[in-house]
Amino acid sequence: MAYAQPTPILEVRDLHVEFDTMSGLVQGLRGVSFSVMPGETLALVGESGSGKSVTAQAVMGLIGLPGSIVSGDILWKGQSLLTPEGQKKAASLRGKSLSMVFQDPMTSLNPLMTIGAHLVEVLRRHMKLSKPQAFARGVELLEAVGITEPRRRMAQYPHEFSGGMRQRVMIALAIACEPELLIADEPTTALDVTIQAQVLDLLADLQKSMGLSIVLITHDLGIVAGLCERVAVMYAGSIVEAGSAATVFEQAEHPYTQGLIRSTPRLDDRRDRLVSIEGAPPSLLHPPKGCAFQSRCPVASRQCDTKPARQETPAGGSVSCWTPSLPAWADVAKTTEVHAR
Ligand SMILES: Nc1ncnc2c1ncn2[C@@H]1O[C@H](COP(=O)(O)OP(=O)(O)O)[C@@H](O)[C@H]1O
Ligand SMILES: [Mg+2]
Repeated sequence: MAYAQPTPILEVRDLHVEFDTMSGLVQGLRGVSFSVMPGETLALVGESGSGKSVTAQAVMGLIGLPGSIVSGDILWKGQSLLTPEGQKKAASLRGKSLSMVFQDPMTSLNPLMTIGAHLVEVLRRHMKLSKPQAFARGVELLEAVGITEPRRRMAQYPHEFSGGMRQRVMIALAIACEPELLIADEPTTALDVTIQAQVLDLLADLQKSMGLSIVLITHDLGIVAGLCERVAVMYAGSIVEAGSAATVFEQAEHPYTQGLIRSTPRLDDRRDRLVSIEGAPPSLLHPPKGCAFQSRCPVASRQCDTKPARQETPAGGSVSCWTPSLPAWADVAKTTEVHAR
């Protein structure tokens, strides 16, 4: 019997983005597909340069020249945002039902405007509140994101806030219009570890109390556990593995995911040292024809010269690899041996 599948709030289908640069065409995204269900938190994880921010920018309609979406689709509740009609809809969604928190709050806050003025502006524009109503709501929002003495803080400028507090302000701005989906692009990367944990807890609380869907973008797999239900792992402009957080952490299928987990510190970790994945991702100017990870993969073979198709995993996820579930990094000695060959 077939069950009706609930419609994802966001679906990205085989998205390709290119940047026409002086040195040639950079293939920023090379077929990205994923979906986010209502109320779900999805982690988008990968090394720097893997295409995480470009994915977020594409969803937010922020790909500008020299970049462009060359193929694929982005759907909001089943409706394309890339058709002429969809683009109109997208413009009304963005900043309201669909909002984003960036990595560096200092570049997104106007240093000449008080925190209160930022909040009042957003609330008046999108929520059609009067000035006094917007001010009162701004105070509530600061309180909701854990800022004490919110009335006094409304009159202060961004430089009077610490990094963690500024990121809380950014979150307050992002949730001001009661979004259904929040994209947070490395929201805690610039913060120290304790503050990072507090901001992540705040996101988790908001997710629960507001029933938000969240796409959490990070290069740090360590912050994903406990916060995200599903994980999608990006490498060189594609998603190489996706699945529930539990299965991705416990039975990673792709050698890259296995390598990432092996190089991520964990609280319960007894290993003496962590081993990072040797080498660097391929250039997206001239990406390899086959599997993009093969030059760093300890179990690569000749068939990896052909691009592996995405396949379902027994645990309900998906992976793009010719030899999924093979333990790629059994131990350091073996890895070194393989690399030496
Ligand atoms: N404006 C741009 N011009 C040229 N290349 C870009 C531009 N923006 C992103 N790219 C390229 O797209 C790829 C993905 O970048 P990005 O999504 O920022 O990575 P990250 O995973 O670190 O967020 C990188 O190779 C990057 O160099
Ligand atoms: Mg980025």
